[in-house]
Amino acid sequence: MKGLKRYKDHEGEIAFVKNKGLPRTVQNAIYQEGLKALKQRMGRHHQPERTILLVGGAGYIGTVLTAHLLRCGYRVRCLDLLLYQNQVCVLPFLSNDHYEFIYGDLADASIHDAVLSGVTDVVLLAGLVGDPITKKYPEASEVINDTGLLQLIKNLQGRGLNKVIFVSTCSNYGLIKTNELADENFALSPLSLYAKAKVRVEKEILSQKGRVDYHGTVLRFATAFGLSPRMRFDLTVNEFAREIFLKHDLLVYDADTWRPYCHVQDFCTLIERVLVFPTGLVSFEVFNCGGAVNNFTKQMIVDKVREFLPDARVSYKEHGTDPRNYKVDFKKVRERLFFEPRYTVADGISEIIKAMQQNLFVDIEKNREFFGNYSIEYKMNSVGCLQNSGGQEVVS
Ligand SMILES: NC(=O)c1ccc[n+]([C@@H]2O[C@H](COP(=O)([O-])OP(=O)(O)OC[C@H]3O[C@@H](n4cnc5c(N)ncnc54)[C@H](O)[C@@H]3O)[C@@H](O)[C@H]2O)c1
Repeated sequence: MKGLKRYKDHEGEIAFVKNKGLPRTVQNAIYQEGLKALKQRMGRHHQPERTILLVGGAGYIGTVLTAHLLRCGYRVRCLDLLLYQNQVCVLPFLSNDHYEFIYGDLADASIHDAVLSGVTDVVLLAGLVGDPITKKYPEASEVINDTGLLQLIKNLQGRGLNKVIFVSTCSNYGLIKTNELADENFALSPLSLYAKAKVRVEKEILSQKGRVDYHGTVLRFATAFGLSPRMRFDLTVNEFAREIFLKHDLLVYDADTWRPYCHVQDFCTLIERVLVFPTGLVSFEVFNCGGAVNNFTKQMIVDKVREFLPDARVSYKEHGTDPRNYKVDFKKVRERLFFEPRYTVADGISEIIKAMQQNLFVDIEKNREFFGNYSIEYKMNSVGCLQNSGGQEVVS
């Protein structure tokens, strides 16, 4: 098998160089895992490289992940509906032979065969992301985040896929009134449409254990921060850094509520780790994704920004519309996947301030829809689901 020989040289080198910090036994296991996935794939489809389908790969996390996976030697196929006019984010990838973009709606089951053809692994990122946007568009949210995603998951079976990663959220823990840390077994208490759909999809994925031919993994992400080609300034760390940099008055609700945060680059490292780690360690497992060092209250974020910008003008109010409060335990991801975040909240604030100083975000107000999940245009299509309307009919 010629392709296998190439893989051995190439991936073997990657496994040993890239995972240098990991114990030798784990490096060996990663290498063997890669060989196993490849042999299985070549037997079925005679296709040497791993091709990762990123559903929602044009978004805030997806674009950073695309660059990361291409750098690591994977092929990437992206399915995205470009709900935020974020097409510009995929343009730089189009000249890469290992990249393919497909414009389409995950809720349109008629495209699933074509989109999944030749793919080895799937990362599910797409959806209406965040409490406010799902509250604003409940109908679209149900079509995409619930029924659409569940149908897509049903269609993953029987294709010889290797790994399927569902990106979920620590928002599923909702409001924890005590000082307890939520580990993966902590009771889920989703408060928003967004988190309720995530919990339903998590359950569906985990219920497939032993019934499907792929390995599913659920990753509950902390709130992301850091720079991305599809920048989101509706995320707390990014928003606070930007507002304070611009000398705006920042109004902070419920300053003492806790949440975990994690840099977008660290999430990419973690997703790739799930792709390469032995299936026995990740198959039908749930991981909280982040690190204890980045469990922060909103007040602590303000204080960090003040270390860079001491003149910050901040006022406070209690009883905002978002009651979430959760501190998260990241022991499992640390002990099993050897994952510790490389970036702190301070690193994220610093990179955003530097980018602002270099005039990289001067057009935010003119192009607000691009820079956060504020509004979308989405309508029913001919197959009975909603789709991106390209500026016509709006569902709200
Ligand atoms: N950003 C965070 O703080 C955070 C925290 C926890 C979990 N997550 C999870 O990470 C994932 C990615 O989040 P993000 O911040 O990159 O969000 P994002 O909104 O920037 O990206 C989502 C992408 O999905 C696409 N999309 C939406 N509906 C689609 C559809 N029907 N068909 C095809 N594509 C569609 C959008 O066009 C967009 O490019 C989500 O699953 C989210 O729940 C994010």
